[in-house]
Amino acid sequence: MYFEKSKGFPKDFLWGSASAAYQVEGGWDADGKGVSNWDKFVRIPGKTFKATTGDKAVDHYHRYKEDVKLMAEMGLKTYRFSIAWTRIYPNGNGEVNEAGLQFYDDLINELLKYGIEPMVTVYHWDMPQALEEQYHGWENRQIVDDYVNYAKTLFERYGDRVHYWITMNEQNIFTSFGWLKGMHPPGKENDEKMFYQVNHHANMAHAKTVLALKEMYPDAKVGASFAYSPCYGYDRKPENAMAKADYDDLQNYWWMDIYAYGRYPRSAWAYLESRGVAPQMEEGDAKILKKAAALVDFMGVNYYQTCVAEYNDINGVGMTNTMNTTGEKGTAQVQGVPGLYKNPANDFLPTTDWDWTIDPMGIRMCCRDITSRYDLPVVISENGLGAFDKVEDGKIHDPYRIAYLKAHIEELKKACDDGCRVLAYCTWSYTDLLSWLNGYQKRYGFVYVDREEDENSGTLNRIPKDSYYWYKKVIETNGEEL
Ligand code: NOJ
Repeated sequence: MYFEKSKGFPKDFLWGSASAAYQVEGGWDADGKGVSNWDKFVRIPGKTFKATTGDKAVDHYHRYKEDVKLMAEMGLKTYRFSIAWTRIYPNGNGEVNEAGLQFYDDLINELLKYGIEPMVTVYHWDMPQALEEQYHGWENRQIVDDYVNYAKTLFERYGDRVHYWITMNEQNIFTSFGWLKGMHPPGKENDEKMFYQVNHHANMAHAKTVLALKEMYPDAKVGASFAYSPCYGYDRKPENAMAKADYDDLQNYWWMDIYAYGRYPRSAWAYLESRGVAPQMEEGDAKILKKAAALVDFMGVNYYQTCVAEYNDINGVGMTNTMNTTGEKGTAQVQGVPGLYKNPANDFLPTTDWDWTIDPMGIRMCCRDITSRYDLPVVISENGLGAFDKVEDGKIHDPYRIAYLKAHIEELKKACDDGCRVLAYCTWSYTDLLSWLNGYQKRYGFVYVDREEDENSGTLNRIPKDSYYWYKKVIETNGEEL
């Protein structure tokens, strides 16, 4: 056979679920952990819903055994989690913290005890504050060496047991929210030049991390996770089709081409150069990026929504569905790119309570596009529904979440039938957790956690939701029963 293909999901498909250190662990200063940029940022008044912090989060740091046991009872095949850099290197570099290393050793061993494959994210947005103070973190090229040093420490310690590594989570989001929208640390707005420079540093950190891993563990599987929102042209008007092409080059391929090909898309680069915001590259960077791209094993996709591109001839302001911190329904205004595109809402699609479009077919489009453009396997590293959940008689009935996941899994199955090589599907999230800007009202988990925004609220008890039992069945039947 020219292409090997399974019908539906492959036999060894990794049914999973995901989290991130800052959003679940808590124990923000436990056992020698250093301060991260998020530990600082959430303390700035007005930044998060009801001033929530991840100080305690859902206390996974102390309750990981209970959480893993529930995963095992569910039959989970893989658990994706991130490592807090500040537990390993409290100051970002320098002295290593054995207690921090030990925590992840314990977590990994606990997962393995039940046959759950650990999938580890090296960086899920929590930068050591010390590096911010030493040299402004991502803004300085020095970050590349510190990042690789940190990553190598993880590979040395866990590489014998961890086979799946994600170098970086949603680089497109943490950089655009951090340097364009002012909503994530370091809270800068419209600093386009720095935005692209920071991205180049992150790309180099990713690439050198891939090279380091493959030198130590050639058989390990590695990729980056990208927040991929496929885009529709507004209509058949040629300038709207061009707006979509511009959007794809600047918002999607700008990152994915680097991970998969090790090069920036030409037309995006030409556009940035014409405006004086293209990043500075050093001699040898292009080669390193290419070398790493050739070794990448999969494209990680965090899929939540699609968007629309419409030619923007006026002022760059468009309406789109986006994150808001109030938890109220309402459409927020964001910048488009003047002269290129704006992002109107898609009135063919419903939205979540946070105005994210619900578009199951988009997940199939992600897989198809990655397959035809890069011919890479895909790991769906996140997909899920943020919703208000209610406890009724000690139970959580979340048919809306089941409906959302079911529709996405059906489309993912079609992607497998289309010939895409999909390796894993991780829902976001396993337990309820802290939404960076939205506190605990926006819940994603299979497992409810009893707490609210107030740090002293709730028992932190875990209650499996209806969706937990539903996903258990999905796993048991390898996606045949949905
Ligand atoms: C993607 C991010 O990786 C995750 O941290 C976040 O909570 C979810 N999106 C939902 O917004």
